[in-house]
Amino acid sequence: MSLITIIGASSGIGLATMQTALDAGHSVRAVARGAANIPLQHERLQKQPGDALSADDVAAAVAGAQVVVQSLGVPFDARMLFGPISLFSQATQLLIPAMQAAGVQRLVAVTGYGAGDSRDSISPLQRAGFELVFGRAYRDKDTQEALIRGSSLQWTIVRPGILTNSRRLTYQALTTPERWRNGIVSRKAVAHYIIHQAVEPEAIGLTPVLVG
Ligand SMILES: NC(=O)c1ccc[n+]([C@@H]2O[C@H](COP(=O)([O-])OP(=O)(O)OC[C@H]3O[C@@H](n4cnc5c(N)ncnc54)[C@H](OP(=O)(O)O)[C@@H]3O)[C@@H](O)[C@H]2O)c1
Repeated sequence: MSLITIIGASSGIGLATMQTALDAGHSVRAVARGAANIPLQHERLQKQPGDALSADDVAAAVAGAQVVVQSLGVPFDARMLFGPISLFSQATQLLIPAMQAAGVQRLVAVTGYGAGDSRDSISPLQRAGFELVFGRAYRDKDTQEALIRGSSLQWTIVRPGILTNSRRLTYQALTTPERWRNGIVSRKAVAHYIIHQAVEPEAIGLTPVLVG
C-alpha cells in the first residue's frame, strides 16, 4: 500500500480520490489550503494544510510519497471569465522539481477534456463557447500539460469530460485522439481511475479523456 499525496484534496475530484484511496487501503496526505476542514477522520489520513503555490508547502506535501495526484481547480466566478489564471502552470512549475528532489516519480494530474491537443477534437461550433467560458483556464492548463509532458516524471494526465457528483462508477478512458469526445463522468469514477493508475500505472505517458 502506498502513501498518496493529493494536492487539491479538499473538494471535488481530489476529495473523491482521497476517499477512494482510503477505501482501497492506501495512506493519504490530503493537501489544500482548506485541508483542515476535510470532514473525515481516518487513521491513514494526514490532513496537511498547504498552498500549491508555496515551494515549502509543496516540498512538505511530496516528501515520502510514492504517488502524487494533482487535482487543482479554480472557482467558477468572474475570474474564470475575465481574470488572469496561472494557478495550474505555476503550481506545476513548483511541483515537478519538488517531486524530482524528493525522488517521487509517479504523477497523476487532472486537467480536462479540451486541454492540450484534445482541444482539436471539439467541434468548431462548441469550441467558440468553450473558448469564451473556459479559455483562460484551459490555456493555463495547456501550459500545465506541456510542463508535465516535458518532465522526466512517470506521468499520466487525466482529462475528464463534464463532471457530476453522481455515484455512477462507469467510465471509458479514451487514450487515442480519434476516440476523444466530450461526455459526462462522475467525480467518483474519475477518482477510481486515478487510484487505479496510481497502483497499476498502465497509462504512463498517456493523456486519457474520461467519459461515462
Ligand atoms: N467542472 C467540470 O465539469 C470539469 C470538467 C473537466 C475538468 N474539470 C477540472 O477538474 C478539476 C477538478 O475540479 P473539481 O470541480 O472536481 O474540483 P474543485 O472543487 O474545483 O477543487 C479544487 C481543489 O483545488 C484546491 N486548490 C485551489 N487552489 C489551491 C492552492 N493554491 N493550493 C492548494 N490547493 C488549491 C482547492 O482547495 P482549497 O481551496 O482548500 O485550497 C480544492 O481542493 C479542475 O481543474 C477542473 O477545471 C472540471
